[in-house]
Amino acid sequence: MSSFENILLKAEDQIATLTINRPDKLNAINKFTLLELKCALQKVCMNKNIKALIITGSGEKAFIAGADINEIATLDESNARSFSENGQEIFRLIENSQKPVIGAINGYALGGGCELALSCHLRLASYNAKFGLPEASLGILPAFGGTQRLTRLIGKGRALEIMLTGDMISAERALEIGLVNHIVEKPSDLMPSCKKILDKILRNAPLSAGKIITATNAAYSKEGYLAETDCFADLIKTDDFTEGTKAFIEKRTPKFIGS
Ligand code: COA
Repeated sequence: MSSFENILLKAEDQIATLTINRPDKLNAINKFTLLELKCALQKVCMNKNIKALIITGSGEKAFIAGADINEIATLDESNARSFSENGQEIFRLIENSQKPVIGAINGYALGGGCELALSCHLRLASYNAKFGLPEASLGILPAFGGTQRLTRLIGKGRALEIMLTGDMISAERALEIGLVNHIVEKPSDLMPSCKKILDKILRNAPLSAGKIITATNAAYSKEGYLAETDCFADLIKTDDFTEGTKAFIEKRTPKFIGS
């Protein structure tokens, strides 16, 4: 359908499939990939022949292992806010899409990858999928809407446990707490299962689907997203942020000092 560097976009039988394609970096999303993602989403939105979208990651190890930590490490006070706002804006395109979007989660869905999955309307995961928001281990917080969407989806207590511990959870646990809609045995089972659900959805009136999405999204306040960006910008000023990201890049355990 289109050629991108870090994204594969194809369409078949009214359904587009968007694959984040940086398998050597576990599909971590850097700025360029985010830009391509925005462009690909706009193409899907404008194409009248496409009625639904599936988003997945390349390979069998990762959906998306997060935003690119090498780039996060270079953020400072001057660009932290725009980093968060840009990610929120792009993930909002997914959430507000009038065409149903399913996340097909085929491996690690961490940080920004988990946040992207949360912005999809439905989530299907394979048994090997793992979910987590480990930003606190880097001295930051989930800043692409994760604090808001996870809390709504699974409730405050469970969301706080995931974000404060940074623990990864299995696909089975994700199903148990409502983070995903269904799980399938193997990553290769994901596409047929997504298409089976979309077959049902696409038999219904498309305008109803769009309005159901809009009305459901309207149940939530926008102020929380602003608070998330404020907190992210505050954390970027800290020594622990520098230490957290540096430790990941140097492949060692961070030593946090609380300032
Ligand atoms: N940003 C940048 N690079 C990343 C990345 C990220 N979020 N996640 C993985 N990678 C890179 C690794 O640095 C490594 O690159 P290299 O081969 O050039 O060293 C490559 O992807 C493979 O990852 P690796 O860590 O070797 O795989 P693993 O199987 O040992 O561990 C994870 C897998 C997912 C547990 C581990 O990669 C990880 O913890 N990633 C970061 C997750 C995270 O904190 N995400 C939130 C970011 S806000």
